[in-house]
Amino acid sequence: MKHFIDISDVSAGEILELIELAFELKEKQRAGIGYTPLSGKVLAMIFSKSSTRTRASFEAGMYQLGGYPMVLNAADLQIGRGEPICDTARVLSRYADGIMIRTYDHEDVLGLARFGTIPVINGLSDDSHPCQVLADLMTVKEYKGRLKGVKLAYVGDGNNVANTLLQACPKVGVDIAVATPARYACDEKYVSQARAEAASTGASVTICTDPAKAVAGADVVYTDTWVSMGMEADGDERVPHFKGYEVDAALMSLAQKDAIFLHCLPAYRGMEVSDEVIEGPASVVFEEAENRLHSQKAVMAKLMG
Ligand code: CP
Ligand code: NVA
Repeated sequence: MKHFIDISDVSAGEILELIELAFELKEKQRAGIGYTPLSGKVLAMIFSKSSTRTRASFEAGMYQLGGYPMVLNAADLQIGRGEPICDTARVLSRYADGIMIRTYDHEDVLGLARFGTIPVINGLSDDSHPCQVLADLMTVKEYKGRLKGVKLAYVGDGNNVANTLLQACPKVGVDIAVATPARYACDEKYVSQARAEAASTGASVTICTDPAKAVAGADVVYTDTWVSMGMEADGDERVPHFKGYEVDAALMSLAQKDAIFLHCLPAYRGMEVSDEVIEGPASVVFEEAENRLHSQKAVMAKLMG
């Protein structure tokens, strides 16, 4: 593993190893045992979009691993004035030991990896959000004790998070059902990747437009905002198409009795999730958010250690 850009580039074995390491780091953290394999190392973090969890967890995580997190807002960088990614990549490679980028165009992430000489971590692009989904799988393992054979239902927009769940779930044997409005379905590329992985692991992939069908019997119910970053201008047009896609108590009642509710956050109550569900007993969204820290520390330790 040279970079962490898309789950499709990471093997099932590597995902499971990262999750195991993340659990070890979580225990260490709880026990107050220091672990500083990145002492003297620098992570450059480029943000072209807002962030609470990604920024705070990478910054805290890099510090805890003994390194220095260098936060660079894209608006303050020369990127904002037109300096190309190929030059930015080669310059940052001379100062830092790794780059994390949150951006719009997935090509920017790929460009940093192509032109730079240090590991690149995708902290979210319009296409995918691998750090999120690694933490999600860790959370599923934590609450369900296994991944293989777990059924995960994703309800809502076919966005970067949904794309990445499609890349990841079948790979590790999680059955996935995705329900989106037809016009906001996941790109066919991710559906075929999911079906190809499922063919070799025996996992199932269901793509539909009916939230009730996706959620029936699910162990994990997942949703995300209907208006992702960069789509704000279309928000008013998009939202009416999601009528019936709110994860509320009635929808949750179709899942397994011990089902958990996941959301990458930020959440919009009364839109994609009801207040009752996100604040209810099935919701483990803050544990999920905490697991961003531990799983990303595992990624950084593996790539930069
Ligand atoms: N889930 C997530 O990536 O959150 P932020 O946008 O706050 O980083
Ligand atoms: N799909 C959301 C995820 C935010 C963490 C977005 O891209 O805005």
